[in-house]
Amino acid sequence: MTDLQATLDSIYSDILPRVGEGKVADYIPELAKVDPRQFGMAIVTVDGKVYRVGDAGIAFSIQSISKVFMLTLALGKVGESLWKRVGREPSGSAFNSIVQLEHESGIPRNPFINAGAIAVSDVVMAGHAPREAIGELLRFVRYLADDESITIDDKVARSETQTGYRNVALANFMRAYRNLDHPVDHVLGVYFHQCALAMSCEQLARAGLFLAARGSNPMTGHSVVSPKRARRINALMLTCGHYDGSGDFAYHVGLPGKSGVGGGIFAVAPGIASIAVWSPGLNKVGNSQLGAVALEMLAARTGWSVF
Ligand code: DON
Repeated sequence: MTDLQATLDSIYSDILPRVGEGKVADYIPELAKVDPRQFGMAIVTVDGKVYRVGDAGIAFSIQSISKVFMLTLALGKVGESLWKRVGREPSGSAFNSIVQLEHESGIPRNPFINAGAIAVSDVVMAGHAPREAIGELLRFVRYLADDESITIDDKVARSETQTGYRNVALANFMRAYRNLDHPVDHVLGVYFHQCALAMSCEQLARAGLFLAARGSNPMTGHSVVSPKRARRINALMLTCGHYDGSGDFAYHVGLPGKSGVGGGIFAVAPGIASIAVWSPGLNKVGNSQLGAVALEMLAARTGWSVF
């Protein structure tokens, strides 16, 4: 049996000299202010043990990792019919790319690229006001993590609302193809607020534990999704969770994972543990540089892999 705390400690000491590598996201002004010299990691095992190192208790902007929770909510609402609105194929393009949308009739490739996530937000709204949809997501994430202290960072949401021109373009494009039912500003209001969820590595690993444990959270006893759905969400994270870096992440880490431009990565070792890592400096495709390095070390040192 691997001593997980010793493994985390060894990863931390190997990473520490490199902390600060990568470039913080600067297209969202509020994220550009984050100090890149931070690193945290947390592991929650399916038998309920929590291991953490470094800045694992500091809340950060989870950004695109929120797309996993919104996808779970949308599947709960409309089931498999969701796939009429969004595909399940890797895009091979940047997370904010618009090119495929025109060739593919306004149907985004997958729920994790921005266009796909905006369509999923529209599904979750289902006739509700933006505020209610955001409230539903916040309640869901608090329930998953069993932690009422989780909040949305309004400053980050406002910052992206003021500068999210590409997302405005993507949403208008989909609305033109009738793949959004609600007004663009309402859908984007939901989308920008979901991305602004602030969570620590530990809260994130707790919230996502159901994906490592056949759809139920063993710490709370809550049954969240069926085992089959948990497997399928993991499959999508493996193939699409890191955009045009998904193949590389699967090659180096070998676990389903979802990244965000806040520098977080959530990963799943099915049947074993959920993992969250955070370091704000990003690589060229917009994923946490040291987060990916740390997960590669973790996979190598524990032998965890879906392959
Ligand atoms: O829509 C955006 O651009 C951001 N709110 C989220 C993008 C993101 O996290 C991509 N992840 N690596």
